[in-house]
Amino acid sequence: MKPKVFVSRRIPDRGLEKVLEFCDAEVWEDELPPSREVLIEKTRDCEGLLSLLTDKIDGEFLDQCPKLRVVANYAVGFDNIIVDDCTARGVAVGNTPGVLTDTTADFAFTLLMSAARRVVEGMDYVRAGRWKTWGPMLLLGRDIYGATLGLLGLGRIGSAMAERAKGFNMRVLYYDPYRREDLEKELNLEYVDLDTLFEQADFLSVHVPLTPETNGMVNAARFKQMKKTAILVNSARGPIVNTNDLYEALRDGEIAYAGVDVTDPEPIQTDHPILKLSNFVVCPHIASASIETRGRMAEIAADNLIAGLKGEALPAPVNKGVIAKRK
Ligand code: DGY
Repeated sequence: MKPKVFVSRRIPDRGLEKVLEFCDAEVWEDELPPSREVLIEKTRDCEGLLSLLTDKIDGEFLDQCPKLRVVANYAVGFDNIIVDDCTARGVAVGNTPGVLTDTTADFAFTLLMSAARRVVEGMDYVRAGRWKTWGPMLLLGRDIYGATLGLLGLGRIGSAMAERAKGFNMRVLYYDPYRREDLEKELNLEYVDLDTLFEQADFLSVHVPLTPETNGMVNAARFKQMKKTAILVNSARGPIVNTNDLYEALRDGEIAYAGVDVTDPEPIQTDHPILKLSNFVVCPHIASASIETRGRMAEIAADNLIAGLKGEALPAPVNKGVIAKRK
């Protein structure tokens, strides 16, 4: 008999087909995620769950799904999962690292460039019929080449940003709790403390995971440290940046611009005043959304799920060493 699993949203066929072949799978077809109650109800008798970053997986959830042995998250981030609760119950957790690194860094750089060169404002200007002639002072932006990029976090995606910055002849500063001397030479990076990072960056790009320590770490005090001409980029997780503090910093000219792919809350309320600001560019959490990458993410999530169901080590484990133990 095939193992029962719940797939909490339709994912690309490249992964879904594997899941359907190996498992007795129910797939949630709605655009919106299942509520917590529905997620529990659907997973209660399942051995595996292919989850999304919108599904909160904690001890209370796991205790209501006693057969669950593996949670394969369709994301590299796993702040939606209390991993210790899974480990304590012998539930293996997997994520999708690596395959989305370049796609996400491409998009973070896209946000950086869109903000620096006011691309969305330009589009709005044309759409509004305001483009009458070539203007010497029209929509002046900021240069990217030669500017200073500050990387908050130097994991895979932060490092991929640094590679891109090389091509723009940028000075690159970084802060990470783990110093990466090996990369400093290769990518021409300067390791600095947090204060220096915020004070010197022309572009400050966020690449840390969301944890209790990073939650709200980019806040009013940090904006005050930044250059008035600085541009913030966030393609990591919304709650790392305090939304209301960002709104006030942009409104009051404490920083010049922000380009973000993630917000807090997500989605951002449509009546939030930050959406009225012309120096704010936002996208709906699509940094990894290329056809190829989402397909590869689906494949890894499926491989994690199937390995967990077979009682094997996950190819991309979060709680390494936890072989799905529940029977
Ligand atoms: C992730 O993988 O964590 C992204 O936020 C979605 O691709």
